[in-house]
Amino acid sequence: MIPLMKNAFLYETQTKKELAEFIMTASRLSMSDKCQQFEQVFAKTQGRKDCVLFNSGGSANLALIQAYKNLGVLSDGDKIGFSALTWSTNVMPLIQLGLIPVPLDCEPQTLNVMSYNLNDRLQETDLKAVFITNALGLAGDLDKIRELCIKRNILLFEDNCEALGTVLSATKTGNFGDAATFSYFVAHHMSSIEGGSVCTDNQDLAEMLRIVRANGWDRNLTSEQQHKWRNRHEIQGELDDKYTFYDLGFNLRPTEITAFLALTQLRYLEENCLKRERIFKILDAKIRGNDNFLPLNHDHISFLSAFAFPVICKSPQVRDYYIQRLEKENVEVRPVISGNIQRQPFYKKYIKDEYKAPGADMVHDCGFYFGNYPELTDEDLEILSSALMN
Ligand SMILES: Cc1ncc(COP(=O)(O)O)c(C=O)c1O
Repeated sequence: MIPLMKNAFLYETQTKKELAEFIMTASRLSMSDKCQQFEQVFAKTQGRKDCVLFNSGGSANLALIQAYKNLGVLSDGDKIGFSALTWSTNVMPLIQLGLIPVPLDCEPQTLNVMSYNLNDRLQETDLKAVFITNALGLAGDLDKIRELCIKRNILLFEDNCEALGTVLSATKTGNFGDAATFSYFVAHHMSSIEGGSVCTDNQDLAEMLRIVRANGWDRNLTSEQQHKWRNRHEIQGELDDKYTFYDLGFNLRPTEITAFLALTQLRYLEENCLKRERIFKILDAKIRGNDNFLPLNHDHISFLSAFAFPVICKSPQVRDYYIQRLEKENVEVRPVISGNIQRQPFYKKYIKDEYKAPGADMVHDCGFYFGNYPELTDEDLEILSSALMN
């Protein structure tokens, strides 16, 4: 059996032992110093001024949109462009928080929104912000997307939950826009079982994210920031200080266990990404000769921190044929993220405007993926590549 994922952690046994020891000796397990330590280390690793840790990547997405609304940068009814080929938690917060989602098509060869896809959509409608998903460790021409956003005065956020470590134009994905989200769920490049974060250079945003993360109060801000909020609202006295809710929020807090695991796995992040890239390159080279598939284009990417191994077939029939071959070898396969998300029931229920997205439709109808993770053996790679032969 080659499942989508074998282990929760790289160096699983060692990590579980360290976790047991941590739980036995930690004086506190709810959000505290370890979370703060992880935020500092991860911000530095990613090359951003700040990182705010959450209990999941989906929570990071939700908090990001709520924080921009609380700051008055986004308002009810604003149109937000998002990748049609994405995960539910990228678009659900837009609907839940009263914004209007506008899907951006993707290019099947890169699996991602390209600047021409964004440009095409901008011919039909204006956008206040764009929330791009860097799909499966690949990415579109983010440098050109950034340029276009700057020229049109559009905010750019990246959902980098699937592309931690990818580099293009000498920049890490997640650092092209105003903010980016990350997921540390099992099967991602580093796992804390559940977990996620937002990275940004915008200090006002980071402050608001910490308010949104904890019910709208100020307890996790610096004392300088707390002073500012308390003075602004004329709050005095310790009792009121601690129980004042300044803006809309949720409880999206991580635990010290989340942070401990994230710090542990961060030690292996580079190794994890390198191994995934190696596997991607081996399989990519093997299937390039098979003209039943669309060759993936990643020439613009200097380091491809692969999340999975996608295959885009030339027709749905060809896809069925190869899925059958893989299943015969006990290989677990799945659709590419959630396909064209406009075709999902929740989307159709709430959003009546439909936009053409032929690229995302093609990936939806003709694509699939299987797992790519460090524990795949050379024997596994042999099974996978021979099932993908012509
Ligand atoms: C693109 C993308 N965004 C967001 C998420 C949500 O992350 P989480 O599962 O940590 O909530 C995922 C999950 O895999 C994802 O693939």
